[in-house]
Amino acid sequence: MIKESLELKLTPPSQRPRRLRINQAMRDLVSETRLSVSDLIYPLFIRAGENIKKPIMSMSGQFQFSVDHLAQEIDEIVSLKIPAVLLFGIPAEKDACGSAAWQEYGVVQQAIRLIKSRAPNLLVIADLCFCEYTDHGHCGVIEKNRAGEWDVNNDLTLELLVKQALSLAQAGVDIIAPSGMMDGVVKVLRENLDAQNYKNIAILSYSVKYASSFYGPFREAAEGAPQFGDRKTYQMDYRNASEALREAELDASEGADMLMVKPAGNYLDIIYRVKQAFPYLPLGAYQVSGEFAMIKAAAEKGWINEEQAMLESVTAIKRAGADFIITYFAKDLAAIL
Ligand code: PBG
Repeated sequence: MIKESLELKLTPPSQRPRRLRINQAMRDLVSETRLSVSDLIYPLFIRAGENIKKPIMSMSGQFQFSVDHLAQEIDEIVSLKIPAVLLFGIPAEKDACGSAAWQEYGVVQQAIRLIKSRAPNLLVIADLCFCEYTDHGHCGVIEKNRAGEWDVNNDLTLELLVKQALSLAQAGVDIIAPSGMMDGVVKVLRENLDAQNYKNIAILSYSVKYASSFYGPFREAAEGAPQFGDRKTYQMDYRNASEALREAELDASEGADMLMVKPAGNYLDIIYRVKQAFPYLPLGAYQVSGEFAMIKAAAEKGWINEEQAMLESVTAIKRAGADFIITYFAKDLAAIL
């Protein structure tokens, strides 16, 4: 028992940080990180065919759309003032080299034309990669290495990526986002875009992309799961951080206009480092399918407050140093910001 008569020493605090948290208006006034709709990019999955709006089971509230079903979605995105969309295509036919990726009337090429005619000011970013287009699900041309294992041939893939990029450019894309982690991709893209007079098409490089289990739901969404093996010979090892600076440095020197770190939530340290090292290059971060799905799933079970968790997770990515965020929450966020 503590004696009633005991004299306690209670020096009042000389500093009171709580003053700045006294109510919502005060907290808003002094907040250091401000999320705004103009920071957001919304991914869209475009599927070959007609009359399709197919729910993606592992990504609650997300759909695959056929091009004829896209108009309404685009109108909604525009009315929410979301500045940009990121397109992924699911073609009707896949083959070993992913030739559906560079067809003039390929699924993404058609979507770009539709979006540009309907909403010319909505920025259209196209993901540049082959995993949705190859029958084996790898991000490029595969061949057997000396150990007899299948691996992606970097330089053969570069050639196909250039074809894909030129076809997207011809369709009217604003920004090309190579996501396959092929060495030297930014350089060949810039050279060939310039040579064909697409000097103003920007390159947003997925410079720092880790091999991550958090892409799981996306592989259902984009139907691009590798049929064997994994992506560890081209995507980065999550044990590495300085390597991220090397990847970013290479892309910057090859002419990338913007850099990206992916995934985002478990890589806030990487976002911070890349922004510190390249303060002059706009930095994006991709809150990937698994990050989204975990929040959705926990919210559906009633274990987490979805709106609060969404705001906290995306704000943290911006606080770490991202200038813009690719997120499946973009529409939900835009509705409340
Ligand atoms: C394609 C690509 C992937 C994602 C974006 N582009 C899949 C992968 O690399 O396996 C994942 C996005 C997400 O999980 O939301 N190369």
